[in-house]
Amino acid sequence: MMMRTHTCGELRLNHINMTVTLCGWIKNIRNKGALMWIDLRDRYGVTQLLLEEGITDHTIFAQARTLGREYVVQVKGEVVERINKNAALSTGDIEVRILTIEILNSAKLPPFLIEESTDGGEELRMQYRFLDLRRPSMQQNLLLRHQVNQLVRHYLNQQNFIEVETPTLIKSTPEGARDFVVPSRIHPGYYYALPQSPQIFKQLLMVAGLDRYYQIVKCFRDEDLRADRQPEFTQIDAEISFVDEQEVQTIFEGLVQFIFKQVKQIELAPFPRITYADAMAYYGTDKPDLRWGMPLIDLTSSAKGKGFSLFDESSYVLSIVLKGGANYSRKQLDHLRDFLKENFPNVACPCYVKYKSDNKILSSLDKWYSIADYTSWLQAGNATPGDLLILLGGHGDMVYKALGSLRLEVAKVAKLSPIDEYMPIWVTDFPLLEWNQEKERYHALHHLFTAPNPSDIGLLATNPDQVRARAYDMIINGYEIGGGSIRINQQEMQKKILAILGFSEKVSQEQFGFLTKAFTYGSPPHGGIALGMDRICWLLGGGNSIRDYIAFPKNNAGRDVMIEAPSLIPDKQTT
Ligand code: AMO
Repeated sequence: MMMRTHTCGELRLNHINMTVTLCGWIKNIRNKGALMWIDLRDRYGVTQLLLEEGITDHTIFAQARTLGREYVVQVKGEVVERINKNAALSTGDIEVRILTIEILNSAKLPPFLIEESTDGGEELRMQYRFLDLRRPSMQQNLLLRHQVNQLVRHYLNQQNFIEVETPTLIKSTPEGARDFVVPSRIHPGYYYALPQSPQIFKQLLMVAGLDRYYQIVKCFRDEDLRADRQPEFTQIDAEISFVDEQEVQTIFEGLVQFIFKQVKQIELAPFPRITYADAMAYYGTDKPDLRWGMPLIDLTSSAKGKGFSLFDESSYVLSIVLKGGANYSRKQLDHLRDFLKENFPNVACPCYVKYKSDNKILSSLDKWYSIADYTSWLQAGNATPGDLLILLGGHGDMVYKALGSLRLEVAKVAKLSPIDEYMPIWVTDFPLLEWNQEKERYHALHHLFTAPNPSDIGLLATNPDQVRARAYDMIINGYEIGGGSIRINQQEMQKKILAILGFSEKVSQEQFGFLTKAFTYGSPPHGGIALGMDRICWLLGGGNSIRDYIAFPKNNAGRDVMIEAPSLIPDKQTT
């Protein structure tokens, strides 16, 4: 005997008069004395059950009165047409008149309402994640993730990629984020590390001749959490032999277009490319959100030298134009100032030029600047009457970053970034190396194995920080969705980069000897990319954080509050 004949999302008018058996959880009960309605829920939907005095057997009625929310029941009944139909429900044309009820399990009253607008706070819902996941929107999120998983496999399989699993107990490496480590029982004092990514293994698979690899793989990084960052997350990881950066980009742009088309019926246009240098100069960030314009305009040469000490003492004076901002209230402008103060305490307050009309340009900088100055600035920013010019002076990268952030805040307040509009781009030509002031040495901006741009190789000896990498990031709406590069495949070059990064010959050999050795056995030119699965789902489905697309995520403090991990473990288990 099957436990159920239908699901709770399945019955329609064409099932009328059928006797059906449903199983599910009681969502709610409305008891009106002579009439009683029960909403029964499962993954597929909600079906209304009906008990009616005079028609329903009175013992069943009495039994139904003992039921509570979230009880698990099996119900046999007859499908009838509803008098008051509910268009909001897929099963809203019918109800099931109960013939028998079997209680499969009772349930304690849940600590929060299992409804879309629940009364449970995030921490409580995380503690009872199994109840939170009963909510339809959470189930939709997991279904979306399932769909994306299938689409990725489908697309990459079609393109001749093969799925290979790489190990999870590996060796700790000194670069990147902190590793999570696992003590070895057989080798006391020795540790495995959990992979931050399968980078080395996928390169070795290319040396092995696998040609096209992918894996949907868990990665682990012990770093601070944010809305788009979890310590344990999933990458769509890939590597390809005999390719250049354009070819990798074309394949993975195609994958993201395919996913968006299938999941959201959205056709994404070819992704524009912007170099890292331009992204920083025009948007103050390496992950610009290009759903709206508003580039940073460099006014340094015309703003300095007029006696205004704030600008005179700045190395850069930058500005952005806010369309329609000339009529911003004091309160709105104060908000922008406070935002800067809070996030960039070392940057001075912004200055404004309000372009009310051609005859009325207002600013508090009249003591130092003329209308002609204002006009030239407004022209540089393509401003039209009604616009607001926001100016910021400061030093080094900080002023670019500050105005880049203010650009995002302004867009958020002015609602310039429409929901459900997607602007994917490639950021290319990243610097290979970055100077780490604290450690007083270079570190690799992408990772150790990224190839330098061939035309910059001469600079490795003289100006390493000017060498461009063959690295690229995929950015959608200001979020880094993926990153990759063409790799070094020559032992000599790999050794050279390790040396510039400050690894002694001995340490290089200990840490990466197996890789440089592999390069001497016929390593093909190769490159690849990894996309963040959690971030892709989040972009597609919306919500507050990637946590909503992970079945059992960690909270903001990196804890799983349901199973209470991390936890202390007895000494005998660690030795
Ligand atoms: P990278 O470090 O750029 O590259 O990571 C690739 C992508 O993984 C996602 N991601 C994360 N998602 C959630 N939580 C995190 N903590 C987290 N960290 C990264 C991002 C990111 O773009 N081995 C290289 C790839 C390569 O060169 O092929 C790598 O791991 O979406």
